[in-house]
Amino acid sequence: MAISRQLRLLLTAGSLLATALATPLQKRLSDDDDDTPLPLVIWHGLGDNYAAEGLHTVGALAEAINPGTLVYYIRMDDDSSRDQSSTFFGNVTEQVAKACADIAAHPILSTAPAIDALGFSQGGQFLRGYVERCNNPPVRSLVTFGSQHNGISAFRECALTDWVCRGAMALLKGGAWSGAVQSRLVPAQYYRDPAQYDKYLEFSNFLADINNERPIKNAEYKKNIGLLENLVLYMFEDDTTVIPKETAWFEEVNGTEITPLRARKLYSEDWIGLRELDRKGGLKFLTVPGEHMQLTDKVLNETFAEFFGPLKLKKARKSTWFGGEDL
Ligand SMILES: *[C@@H]1O[C@H](CO)[C@@H](O)[C@H](O)[C@H]1NC(C)=O
Ligand SMILES: *[C@@H]1O[C@H](CO)[C@@H](O)[C@H](O)[C@H]1NC(C)=O
Ligand SMILES: *[C@@H]1O[C@H](CO)[C@@H](O)[C@H](O)[C@H]1NC(C)=O
Repeated sequence: MAISRQLRLLLTAGSLLATALATPLQKRLSDDDDDTPLPLVIWHGLGDNYAAEGLHTVGALAEAINPGTLVYYIRMDDDSSRDQSSTFFGNVTEQVAKACADIAAHPILSTAPAIDALGFSQGGQFLRGYVERCNNPPVRSLVTFGSQHNGISAFRECALTDWVCRGAMALLKGGAWSGAVQSRLVPAQYYRDPAQYDKYLEFSNFLADINNERPIKNAEYKKNIGLLENLVLYMFEDDTTVIPKETAWFEEVNGTEITPLRARKLYSEDWIGLRELDRKGGLKFLTVPGEHMQLTDKVLNETFAEFFGPLKLKKARKSTWFGGEDL
């Protein structure tokens, strides 16, 4: 019954979702889907790799909380050390396109009615890129921890023996805005110094686009963010790695002045659908104590219980997922 209701709603919302749901609806919404948790995709952060033990511990927790969850770890290469270096080197446009293609071609993910997504640090804004540009299958809840949604205004320092990092940052000698750097150095593609805003608008290879900051807005980006049920933004209270840490909440930090998202044009003019999502109650600003990526099992467990799991639990929570005002 719940399923036929969902199906009806999906069909009425069909035109809106036509591109997102390329696979036939019948196939996506078989009865088996009812109690099965939605699959979860995880995109790791800078310097990490998809096969890392810590990352898989997180995936195992997600499965323990919602038994039966299929966890997929996004990777740029099956070789874990090459996957790690691609967190520093590469063109983020191409990286997001690869994640889109891999997810859309995955035998299970591609048939799911929706997926949940978990992004650590830069993986968070890259998953937002997935939602805005592809969203096939569509994401229900996107949870990001310490992500740089409004960019970084300074580059991190590399550990003395971190040669991959040091090699990457050496590229910056050529200046953050050169084509060579914007097409190759991953963190430069979300570098956003308010003091060099014009240059950012002109040259940013990734962030200025997915934040719809340029005069011509991509309507698809706004539409797709509007299809989310939850966008959960975690900020680490004592984050000194990400400058500024408030970027996790889309805040603009100018000198010592902090402009919250709701006071920014990005929100008031709703460039990417955040205002609309907020009005539906889907935009969550949360904090966790500690330094960048100091996660506890407690926070992860609570997050997985609240935002991930079966599709139908979410329906019971009077969500607006898939239905707009109908629900
Ligand atoms: C990054 O890749 C995209 C797609 O291939 C390309 O259009 C774009 O020009 C590249 N960016 C840079 C800065 O070269
Ligand atoms: C901070 O913002 C104000 C107004 O938005 C602007 O006039 C000023 O130049 C900015 N300061 C810096 C350091 O960017
Ligand atoms: C997190 O959940 C797992 C699986 O249910 C459980 O074994 C663990 O004790 C939980 N940890 C905390 C701190 O809640």
